[in-house]
Amino acid sequence: MSNERVVVITGGGGGIGSAMAAAFAIAGDRVVLCDIVLGAAERAVAELPSGSGVARQLDVAIEADVEAVFDGIVAEFGRIDVLCNNAGIGCWTELDATSAEAWDRTMAVNVRGMFLCARKVAPVMRAAKAGAIVNTASVHSFLSWPSCSVYAATKGAVLAFTRSIALELLPHGIRVNAIAPGTTDTAMFRLDDHGAPLPEAELAEEARAIPLGRVADPREIARVAVFLASDAASFMAGACVTVDGGQTVRL
Ligand SMILES: NC(=O)c1ccc[n+]([C@@H]2O[C@H](COP(=O)([O-])OP(=O)(O)OC[C@H]3O[C@@H](n4cnc5c(N)ncnc54)[C@H](O)[C@@H]3O)[C@@H](O)[C@H]2O)c1
Repeated sequence: MSNERVVVITGGGGGIGSAMAAAFAIAGDRVVLCDIVLGAAERAVAELPSGSGVARQLDVAIEADVEAVFDGIVAEFGRIDVLCNNAGIGCWTELDATSAEAWDRTMAVNVRGMFLCARKVAPVMRAAKAGAIVNTASVHSFLSWPSCSVYAATKGAVLAFTRSIALELLPHGIRVNAIAPGTTDTAMFRLDDHGAPLPEAELAEEARAIPLGRVADPREIARVAVFLASDAASFMAGACVTVDGGQTVRL
């Protein structure tokens, strides 16, 4: 059996997820890109070094699908060394305009999905007495804007969840940490809630407001995920690394 690590990335067809896939693949790992949009995961796999990745269709919010997809991965590869719990959706509406359905769906993808995937890989990693889980949080875990209450609530939950399972899984050799990206150049940044492109002037203004003077390239987030999942981060557990060009330290 190959000694290459197997890295599962949810939301692997998106901006940050596909950059994570590329970064892990370049580091020599095999990557499984899971996305609700299979075509997006397949397009991301096509950009990887040949043979280093596979795509799987998965809605992380559906328990039976998580069970089946992860069982399939273990059956095919025999191991899961790293889980990047990265799938997430935005919800940028004022409180009064936020439906209970929008609340439920955002919570289901950003929090329940993370829980279902972590719960599913934990026994696999426990049996191997090793593993790393990297949860994608956000600068909204700490600070916020008006009109994104649901999203901010989910990202706060991601950190609380990360801390608790980090303590629970650490005795089994599994390290759990989070990344809090600042504004990053992906579809989530460029498109509104309905998938329509936001005006370039608005995007440029947002970028100028970041102390570094620009938004993150998804590869700048991905590199930190590779670090957190590596032995270089062997003493890190329950931590959250903020990668935001200074966004959250400016007064
Ligand atoms: N882009 C940013 O500015 C930013 C900042 C902070 C945190 N984040 C977080 O980073 C993560 C990745 O976001 P991104 O910017 O790459 O966004 P993106 O929209 O480019 O990618 C998200 C991917 O997740 C997939 N997805 C959506 N719902 C899913 C589900 N139920 N099951 C499986 N896959 C699903 C989408 O199809 C898409 O491919 C998210 O958790 C997001 O909250 C993004």
